[in-house]
Amino acid sequence: MKTRFQFAIVACGATLAVLSARSAVPTSFFPAAELTTIGVYYYPEAWPSNQWARDIAHIKQLGMEFVHMGEFAWAFMEPDEGQFTFDWLETNVRLCAEQGLKVVLCTPTPTPPVWLVQKHPQVLMVDARGRHMAHGSREQACWSVEFYRQYVEKIVTELGRRFGNDPRVWGWQIDNELSHYGKDYCYCDSCQAKFRAWLKNKYGTIQNLNRDWGNAFWSQMYQEFYQVRIPNQDELVQQVNPHALLDFQRWFAEEAADYLRFQADLLRRHCGRKQWVTSNFMSTHGAVYPPLSGKDLDIITWTLYPVHGNLGDGPLGFRLGTAAEMSFMHDFTRNINGFEGLMELQPGQVNWGDVNPQPYPGAVYLWIMRAFGAGANLVCTYRYRQPLSGGELYHYGLVGPDGVTPSTGGQQYSRAMRDIAGLRRHYQAGAKEPAAYAARRTALLYHVENRWDIDNHKQTTRWDTKEHLLKYYRALKRLGCPVEVVTEDKDFAKYPFLVAPAYQLIDSNLVARWTRYAENGGRLILTCRTGQKDRRGHLWEAPWAGPIHDLIGAAITSYDVLPNPINGKVKAGKRLYDWAAWGDILEPKPGTTILAQYADQFYAGQPAAVTRKLGQGTVTYVGVESLSGELESDLLRAVYQRPVPVERFDDGFIVDWRDGFWVATNFTHKKQRAPMAKGARLLIGTRELPPAGVAVWQD
Ligand code: GAL
Repeated sequence: MKTRFQFAIVACGATLAVLSARSAVPTSFFPAAELTTIGVYYYPEAWPSNQWARDIAHIKQLGMEFVHMGEFAWAFMEPDEGQFTFDWLETNVRLCAEQGLKVVLCTPTPTPPVWLVQKHPQVLMVDARGRHMAHGSREQACWSVEFYRQYVEKIVTELGRRFGNDPRVWGWQIDNELSHYGKDYCYCDSCQAKFRAWLKNKYGTIQNLNRDWGNAFWSQMYQEFYQVRIPNQDELVQQVNPHALLDFQRWFAEEAADYLRFQADLLRRHCGRKQWVTSNFMSTHGAVYPPLSGKDLDIITWTLYPVHGNLGDGPLGFRLGTAAEMSFMHDFTRNINGFEGLMELQPGQVNWGDVNPQPYPGAVYLWIMRAFGAGANLVCTYRYRQPLSGGELYHYGLVGPDGVTPSTGGQQYSRAMRDIAGLRRHYQAGAKEPAAYAARRTALLYHVENRWDIDNHKQTTRWDTKEHLLKYYRALKRLGCPVEVVTEDKDFAKYPFLVAPAYQLIDSNLVARWTRYAENGGRLILTCRTGQKDRRGHLWEAPWAGPIHDLIGAAITSYDVLPNPINGKVKAGKRLYDWAAWGDILEPKPGTTILAQYADQFYAGQPAAVTRKLGQGTVTYVGVESLSGELESDLLRAVYQRPVPVERFDDGFIVDWRDGFWVATNFTHKKQRAPMAKGARLLIGTRELPPAGVAVWQD
């Protein structure tokens, strides 16, 4: 079962390979004046050839600008070993070009043909229980098996030869949602061997590994690297070694990035820089980390299915999805290399949730315009036609089962494309970001290793790392901040505000950077669980979270977590808030101001949140997580509204500025009012936005 919308935000070693590829990407791929372009998935291999021309002409009539093809078509591209047949694809590329539609082609590697896996079963992945997966679905092959990569090399090379120099082809997608879906990790012999080689390279000697993995505990001592196995709860009596698991997660993500790089390099031998290359990351998976591929891809794309039986926020959340989650992902992927897009967005009901309700009328348009407001370069809908057979037959398309009648979602795609085409006429190159908005710019520091390490050992089931991040993200969007979700490679000095939630793994260099940032005038906000461990995941041989005590101007003397249904109380100003998941108990140093105190339990009266001046800036530490997120929201408001003007939006009403346009999107169940300045020109929508309403205006 796929679980969507846990942030994909995964992996990475101590060195993040997140380099700015913006300068390397020819801007002609995504000209700023085109704002956002919209396209659609089409599967010619699944439809009668006498319908191709009609379908593609209709895609054009609906207003789409590009067509995406081929990610599952390996059996049609190479029906038997070494027999390559691309004529059917060539015909469809021609039909698209005749309609003036750009083409995105894909490498078909999520779906190896049956002949391949039957001849060579060693390419099949092995799950945690040691079972080899079989043909009959997708992502069943293990990309770390060199032998599988040889087959991948052949098909990708053939595709590159045929289309890599073809001006009708705009770009490439590698694989599809690279992952093993709910099976998570592969435990095959190749993965075991490659993981060991990675460890040997990292540690040099087995003694170093024994030390960093804390193997003195329970006599886990290894004598040689060959004795190490991938940590796997299914073959262990008690809990997995957390340091071994963290290393395995790092290796797995790096191996996935290596595989994407391998395919990108093969394509580039043929297309050079004339066509762009991407991969569509799931917004959910915990095993593949987009920033590791940031410099190897020209644009980071991802897949979004906001309504699939999840409850979302508020009474309409189950039909509108959760604004904070999708916005966070936009703000994360955009910052990897400067270009991002939604490669899949649901056009209506899906087929894979426990319950698959209808989205709210206008929700599809809302999601597209949210992507537009967040700066997305492209949006592509999954899919053009509703399938008549196969595992996804309840899945909506732009057109219904008859293959011609636009679905309600299809109509919303057309409307969005018409509106964006209209906005292009109002585009002004070099429009200046409004000063009050720029003054609130916030970097939200994210490192997937914190998420892994916390989730590998939460200490309380009431803790949810994603929700902790989102509490801060929501608070920032309620203030109307432009948020950049950034990784440690970025220069913090560009951002007036820096929030690092639950940043558990640190080193002295990071503490020094944070200190300099505040001393130079930055406003730093750290939250509970920050600084508890070093990058290996060891506690400090020092007071609890000792390395951040000087920075935050307080000691963290202990922490508490409360079992359900017991909630604690914390007081800030005159207001009381419930908390349960985590509460640090603080002892402020002279000069530090207390922002919140516990109001019950045996530590009633002791501080839970503090702030202090440091050089030209401030450091605020919020050691408790409230149940509702209101405490976080109120404390951030206090930090921000002193130096800069802020908004007071409801959670779920998101307003951003992009390329000269203000874009407001209403994911709440109430009417919201667009914060338009006097004399502003409304281009789309109304000033009063109903639920699912969108407004776009220019100052
Ligand atoms: C995506 C996947 C698509 C399709 C879709 C259905 O996650 O990439 O291939 O399965 O879900 O909603």
